Amino acid sequence: MKLWGGRFAKETSQLMDDFHSSISFDKRLYAQDIRGSQAHAKMLCKQGIISAEDEAAIQQGLCAILEDIKAGKVDFPASSEDIHMHVESLLTERIGDAGKRLHTGRSRNDQVALDMHLYAKDCCDETIALLCEMEETLLKLAKKHAGDVMPGYTHLQRAQPVTLGHHLLAYFEMFKRDIIRFQNAKKAADVSPLGSGALAGTTYPLDREFCANELGLAAVSMNSLDGVSDRDFLLEYMAAASICMMHLSRFCEECVLWSSLEFGFMTMDDGFSTGSSMMPQKKNPDVAELIRGKTGRVYGDLMALLTVMKGIPLAYNKDMQEDKESFFDARDTVVKCLHVFHEMLASATFRTENMKKSANDGFANATDCADYLVKKGVPFRDAHSIVGQLVAKCLSKGCAIDEMSLAELKELSNAFEEDVYEAISLNTCVSARNLIGGPAPQRVLAAVEMGKRWLETVE
Ligand code: ARG
Repeated sequence: MKLWGGRFAKETSQLMDDFHSSISFDKRLYAQDIRGSQAHAKMLCKQGIISAEDEAAIQQGLCAILEDIKAGKVDFPASSEDIHMHVESLLTERIGDAGKRLHTGRSRNDQVALDMHLYAKDCCDETIALLCEMEETLLKLAKKHAGDVMPGYTHLQRAQPVTLGHHLLAYFEMFKRDIIRFQNAKKAADVSPLGSGALAGTTYPLDREFCANELGLAAVSMNSLDGVSDRDFLLEYMAAASICMMHLSRFCEECVLWSSLEFGFMTMDDGFSTGSSMMPQKKNPDVAELIRGKTGRVYGDLMALLTVMKGIPLAYNKDMQEDKESFFDARDTVVKCLHVFHEMLASATFRTENMKKSANDGFANATDCADYLVKKGVPFRDAHSIVGQLVAKCLSKGCAIDEMSLAELKELSNAFEEDVYEAISLNTCVSARNLIGGPAPQRVLAAVEMGKRWLETVE
């Protein structure tokens, strides 16, 4: 008979069991479920609701079940419905009546909410740690490439020169915001709903704060209806994960472009590339493409749970069991992607010579050339037009601006002098962009130091 079978005259149909059982996926919550039960039992005893002997038997029984699950000795049959009922049944099988007292003053509704809070909090820590590793690698690479000039793009057209270090630090900033979002998600998870009961609390004199404290949770939820039916903390993790995947996906898109023959800015390590079964020359950036593709899954997970939650009345409804597979999939995906992307990035080679050549060939210094004329007294709009004509001339000759002779330059404006070549050299162009947030090598190095100091503050 089911643990709740008292009022039923008949067994549930097999079809029903298969349909509503969640144990195939919520078994991953076993450690959180057992921790929660241990805290609950300790509190029941402290409050005089169960005896010390019962509590001791429960604690021992739960420890043994935890060990057995870890050792792979426990089966999870679909007939057990969910992890909560399974652990409770195992306990009662092993220790008898004391096991039946564990659920006093508790419902699976506050129990499952607690399990998810504990699990999500751990996921936040895990994800933040992976992001921090990525940030360290980005800082290391940015320092190494602080002075390596590359073209910056708008509309994917070469625009102005930047440094590779600066480009990489853009991602540092993006992942920094992700870390802050996961920290906020962690705050939302760091709450104990235990004591909310099924929906309306309980008449037993529970000490909710004691349980929260035992479990290392910062606060107790303030409304029993909200306590059992809030899944915002999961959505917050998934929203942070979606934005983080969007950042990874943009980075991956650049890796795909950069490792093409057309760009030639990056070479992936062989260990993170694949070949073609037909075309012998191929080396494909599969990791980057897969991460770009998996971003869609995580968005889908977020949308799925948002949609589950949008129509349900207070408090618990079985719809909410659908939170788990979406959440687990989002967590599994973002964790796997962060891990493999980090390895791929750390093992890739940047082809800085090609970057420099590309910056040279692409008129990335045209704005600087116009600014040079402005400094010589030419109004900016006129300077813009003069350099525009100059670029057209270079294009027809097939050369760069600094390959024009001074005489040729003077045909377009008398303001050009010998010092123009120095003024529009790529190194001058980037070094001159020496303001907060700019690409100048000194700024990049300073930003790396600031980034390191920030990373040290991340908890
Ligand atoms: N397996 C359920 C879930 O994940 C646990 C809570 C069940 N509560 C209930 N009243 N049926 O949501």
